[in-house]
Parts: sequence; structure tokens; C-alpha cells
Amino acid sequence: MDRFIIKGPVRLKGEVEISGSKNASLPILMATLLTDEPCVLTRVPDLRDVRTTFKLLTELGKNVSYDGNMAVVTNAGPLKGSVSYDLVKQMRASFWVAGPLLARLKHAQIPLPGGCAIGVRPVDIHLKGFEKLGAVCTTLKGDILIKAGELKPAKIVLRFPSVGATINIMMCAVLIPGQTIIENAAKEPEVDDLIAALKSMGADITVDAQGRVIIEGKAALGPMKHAVVADRIETGTFVIAAAATRGDVIIKNCVPSHNEILVENLVESGFEVVTGDGRIHIKYKEGVQLKPVGIRTMPYPGFATDLQAPYMSLLCTLPGASDITEDIFENRYMHAPELVRMGADITIEKTMAKIKGGAPLSGAKVMASDLRGGVALVIAALCAGGESSIDRVYHIDRGYENIEQKFAGLGAVIKRFNPEKQ
Ligand code: UD1
Repeated sequence: MDRFIIKGPVRLKGEVEISGSKNASLPILMATLLTDEPCVLTRVPDLRDVRTTFKLLTELGKNVSYDGNMAVVTNAGPLKGSVSYDLVKQMRASFWVAGPLLARLKHAQIPLPGGCAIGVRPVDIHLKGFEKLGAVCTTLKGDILIKAGELKPAKIVLRFPSVGATINIMMCAVLIPGQTIIENAAKEPEVDDLIAALKSMGADITVDAQGRVIIEGKAALGPMKHAVVADRIETGTFVIAAAATRGDVIIKNCVPSHNEILVENLVESGFEVVTGDGRIHIKYKEGVQLKPVGIRTMPYPGFATDLQAPYMSLLCTLPGASDITEDIFENRYMHAPELVRMGADITIEKTMAKIKGGAPLSGAKVMASDLRGGVALVIAALCAGGESSIDRVYHIDRGYENIEQKFAGLGAVIKRFNPEKQ
């Protein structure tokens, strides 16, 4: 298993290019199941979850070629209606193929995605949506069976604006002639990017002023041509890393408006942030008294739960007391005990983390237990004095393209190391 060896502290300095969004690439790749025509996607990041999605598409009857961040998806054979547990186990989002398969085949059999390190993560909102569209959902030996005689358009009100449920229901409704409306839909930029990709295939989707997604279903969709939006979580991660290390970094090829709350918080903390023209420039000005600003995670445009862990590493470096409330996932503080091993002062009470920041962090042996928690440890290691070793880097590889090269380009001393290969 790969580890990162990081020597700190360092002040990150320079420019970094943001990759295409992981969380937009996955559903857009799955949306290729909605057509028999060829689909061309650019700016697809080379990540473990993206590779898992390629395997998923291949298993379902597609052929994927991938070169230089461009994925071309074509038909290889008849579309299959079931997915193996091996793939769902590796990536919960595999469940999102249910919508396209139901739309095209009127049935889908997908292993129930179990809980994961960050929480139970049920799929009841997805299933209620499919049922509104005329499907019957049952479970059999760990699989969810979704079947429909006839699918019909419907008005669906989500009990929570789940990203996955919005995506899954939308990918089914685009092929059901008539009007489907999704109320209380997720407003995340990745949902907008999927809508843009579906529109390139000829889908008719609008989002009204109340945020309702209105779909005029079509009998068939055409080829897809789409460039994936910039990854706002990778963007936020580099913004936070620059702040935590008191650096001076220009983050390029991003969409600054997707990280507005984060930027506002950093300005309030005392950092200098200039945004515009696809870039964010963040800088610490010597001598400025910094202060911590607490957060509560929320659906977009609120503070992203995926940035909570990296932001906690930043709060550990800012003198003073602050707190974090994690309202999206019930168990998303596994990075906290690892940060404590590096000298941080954090106490957890249910969904709240209380942080007393400002004590120097020191390098330690720590372990990533999920994707964003893992990158939080990388940020802490860049701030800490001495050497840190971060185990289970495979979690981080799920969602950050060329992460060590990108940090090294900003002056970090970071090396990938595999003890079994030595
Ligand atoms: C997606 C993102 C993930 C991000 C999350 C919230 C991808 C691949 N993953 O995950 O990185 O952290 O959005 O922004 O894009 N819930 C239910 N029932 C359901 C569905 C969800 O109770 O049927 C709950 C979940 O357990 C969780 C909350 O709703 O507590 C949010 O989940 P959701 O928005 O669906 O997240 P994902 O789509 O799984």
C-alpha cells in the first residue's frame, strides 16, 4: 500500500492547475448509458473512481477509450441490466447507473451499496423517486431489484436535496416522454454539469427560479460531447492548503463562484484573496493577525461537507477557538484523532468538533481512512514540523489527480513510497 512521506513545514508558493471534477465526471460517464451513440468527454481526471466507472461501463456493454483526459464511450454489445458487487463495493456511486438502466431496459439489479466510513448512506430517496416514476423496488439477497412495466413522468419532492438521488432520478426521467418535475433538488455545480452534458445529447431540462428541475422527457437521446467542469473540491483543497501553510498560491482553471463561502471565510480570517477570470489568488501577508472562522456544512451553496476535513486542518493552525458542525454525514470526523496525533487540540461532541488552534503541529505516522479526511492529513503534514508518513494513500487517489506532483510544484517535499515494493 502506498504512503506519502512529507517533510514540513513549508509555505506553498506558485501556481496550480485544477483538473476536471471527479463528482461531475462519474454521473456524466454513467449518462452515456442513455444512448447508443458515441460520447466524447474531455477534461476527465485520471482517478481511481473514474477508472472504476470505466470498468462499470464496460461490464454494462460499453467500450471506453481514454487518453490525455479524453474519454470516448461507444457501444460494444447489448446493454446489461445488472452490476457486480465488486464494483459497487469499491465505489458507492456505482448505484447511480440504476436511473439510466431503468430508463432504457425497464429494469435494473444493483447490489445495495452498504454503509461506508463516513456514514450509513441509505438510498431511500433514490428509490422513492423511481417508484414515483412507476417502478417497483424490492431487495433480494443484498441486491435492489427495480422493475417497471411502463414508466411515467411525475412530480417528485425530495425529502432532502440528495445529490445522488437528484442525478439518478434525472437520468431516468430524461427518457420518459412527458414532464417530470424534481422539487427540493440538489443545486450542486456537478448537477448543473450533468444537465449540460445531457442537453448536449438533446435532453430538455430547465432549472426554474425555485431550483425545481423540469424535464421534458424524450423517446431517445443522441451522442454526447462535453467538457467536464473544474473540480471545486480540489480547488477548495488547494485554497485551504495555501492558507494553512501561510503561502502565496494562484489556483488556475477553476470556477471561483463555486467556492464563495470558503473564500468569504478566509477573507474574514485575514487572508488576502483575489478572484476572477477562472483563478483564485490566495496569500498570507506577513504580520497580519489571523483568526479562525467556524463552519456548518450544508447542501450547496452552503459550506461543502467535502471540504470540512481539509478546513479542520486549517483551523488547527489558526490561533483561537472555533467549531465545526457536520450536518450532512453522521460520521465524518475520522481525520480528527489523526490530527490529534500530530498535536492538534480537537474534541468531538456528536456532530460538533471543537478546535483550539495555534499550537504547532508536529510530523507523525498517521492513516487516511477516507478521501477528504486523507487530504486533510496531507495539509496538516505540510504545516507540521518534521516528517510525516500518511498511510492508505489509495483513499486520496480516489479523488485527487497527480496530487503529489501538484503539491511538489508548489514547493512541498512529498514522496510516494510503497514499503512492499522496496
Ligand atoms: C455526493 C458526493 C459526495 C458529497 C455529497 C454531499 C459524489 C460521488 N459524491 O454524495 O462527495 O459529500 O454528495 O455533497 O458526487 N441520504 C439519504 N437517503 C438517500 C440519499 C442520501 O438519507 O437516498 C443522505 C445521506 O446519507 C447523507 C445525505 O443524505 O447523509 C447527503 O447525501 P447525498 O447528497 O445523496 O450524497 P451523495 O450523492 O452520496
